[in-house]
Amino acid sequence: MKNFIEYLDLPPLPTHLVEVADPLSYPCSNTRTAYCKRNGEIIQDADYRRFSVGSELAQWIGNNISSVYDNAGICFHGGLALQTACPHSDRKRKVGLLYVIDPGGPEVDTVFWQEVDQPLHRETGALPSSYQDLTEVGRYRLGAGDWALIDTTVIHSVENIQGLRKTLHVDWMDPALAPYDKILVPAERIELSQSR
Ligand SMILES: [Fe+2]
Repeated sequence: MKNFIEYLDLPPLPTHLVEVADPLSYPCSNTRTAYCKRNGEIIQDADYRRFSVGSELAQWIGNNISSVYDNAGICFHGGLALQTACPHSDRKRKVGLLYVIDPGGPEVDTVFWQEVDQPLHRETGALPSSYQDLTEVGRYRLGAGDWALIDTTVIHSVENIQGLRKTLHVDWMDPALAPYDKILVPAERIELSQSR
């Protein structure tokens, strides 16, 4: 993938599927705990829960995106004092498709990093211990309704989460199976999405 995030040309999720995206509506499939040091302080990972999609949403994904993927889930990040999803490479995928239901605030950024003395693309499950060892290499501000294909082998964090962040994720461990054919050319990108 040339960029860390590619915006995709996919239809919005039907409202009734988004409306059921409530943490209490799904059985919890996994949680994650991580932390990282920043400016001498320990940054605790934002509360993270991921829930399997229901059959109707799975069918919509099959009809509109692909029926070939490893997992699909609805993710929630947040917590009153917890604003950061700490830098990591993903554990169970190399490419992730993300649909933003609620970004969790007006200034939530997905930030990509390279760790000192490490390659840009990492093995799954890498967890740098300090921001001091990281150099920012990309920053994206995704808005509600954006579809984004993410190279999750590059260390990334989510910064400035101010409320409950709700996203749909579809996962591929084999990048060749991800829907690259649906990438928007830059001129077609919606200005709501920013990168620098
Ligand atoms: Fe991630």
